[in-house]
Amino acid sequence: MNAQHRKPASGIGILGVGYFVPEGELTNADLEKIVDTTDEWIRERTGISKRHKTDAETATSDLAAGAALKAIEDAGITPTDIGLIIVGTATPDMFFPSTACLVQKALEAPQAAAFDVSAACSGFLYGLSIAENFVNSGKHEYVLVIGAETLTKIVDWSDKTTCVLFGDGAGAVVVGRVGDGRGIISSYLGSDGGMGDLLNLPAGGSRMPASEETVRNGMHYVKMQGNKLFKVAVKAMASAAVKALEDTGYTTDDLEILVTHQANQRIIDATARRIAVPPEKVYSNVEFFGNTSAASIPIALAEAKKKGILKEGMLVELVSFGGGLTWASVLLRW
Ligand code: ACO
Repeated sequence: MNAQHRKPASGIGILGVGYFVPEGELTNADLEKIVDTTDEWIRERTGISKRHKTDAETATSDLAAGAALKAIEDAGITPTDIGLIIVGTATPDMFFPSTACLVQKALEAPQAAAFDVSAACSGFLYGLSIAENFVNSGKHEYVLVIGAETLTKIVDWSDKTTCVLFGDGAGAVVVGRVGDGRGIISSYLGSDGGMGDLLNLPAGGSRMPASEETVRNGMHYVKMQGNKLFKVAVKAMASAAVKALEDTGYTTDDLEILVTHQANQRIIDATARRIAVPPEKVYSNVEFFGNTSAASIPIALAEAKKKGILKEGMLVELVSFGGGLTWASVLLRW
């Protein structure tokens, strides 16, 4: 396929974007007082210098609603225009109701259907792909897709190998008809349940219901095999990036901005290198937010737009990777 035979954009894309993070911040210097770590180690191994942290009263749906209101305003619509709310999260307020239903209530959008997507850090891109299909089918005109997390509530603050990595926040987009020549060109979703043990939260579900023993043994915290995950993350994100480009007539040379899941600066750099995307085309803000799981891509998009880096007409690729394992990619004309 040559440049004349490029797959056209669907005309369905992102009408508005916004993010919301809690005011509280946790710097590497703060972490030095909690666990046996150093600012130098964290920066060198992860690229993170600080992250946001919610207070005891704030839950995921509060951050999600904050981001949603900004995306809705950016799209120039009102909450009552939304037909469907999808929240990607690994840290829901509770098992049920879904976080999406809690957001629907907060937004006062009774007309909207609402559900959560469980795909860990890939939850936002899974949601974006679902939203495109709902708009394409004509079922809904506007779909709100949110990635929202309060990971600081599920990490073990005595485990230096995980607690330094994660942060809280939410990002949201309104998906709808953006017009000819723009919007989503292609998307790809993948998973491998066989590697689910690399990143999980063992207790609190039906396999290991919460009990005094599970709490005593810290089974309600994130468990991660960071080293193995690092290698799989790079391979999976690089291969997902290529998959969304397949049969579109575009190559990685055509990309103007690459936004990957913001897990770790070394993972972002290694992924970009593997698919030969130069650093100046890679958007990264993991330094200031840490790994916010499903929220990381929409936060990055909102920030890049606000800074004027992400401009209308640009060819953008979004790529994620997360627990499950799951991975996903979306190619779009902004
Ligand atoms: N401070 C100081 N030392 C530490 C810390 C810390 N915070 N954490 C680990 N160490 C020590 C280890 O104990 C180990 O010490 P030892 O050699 O004496 O045994 C040493 O550092 C090296 O440990 P490794 O685990 O090999 O370090 P690595 O270079 O792999 O970095 C890290 C660890 C940052 C976790 C890396 O593996 C990584 O980023 N993995 C991916 C993690 C991730 O991003 N997960 C989420 C992705 S998917 C999602 O977002 C849901």
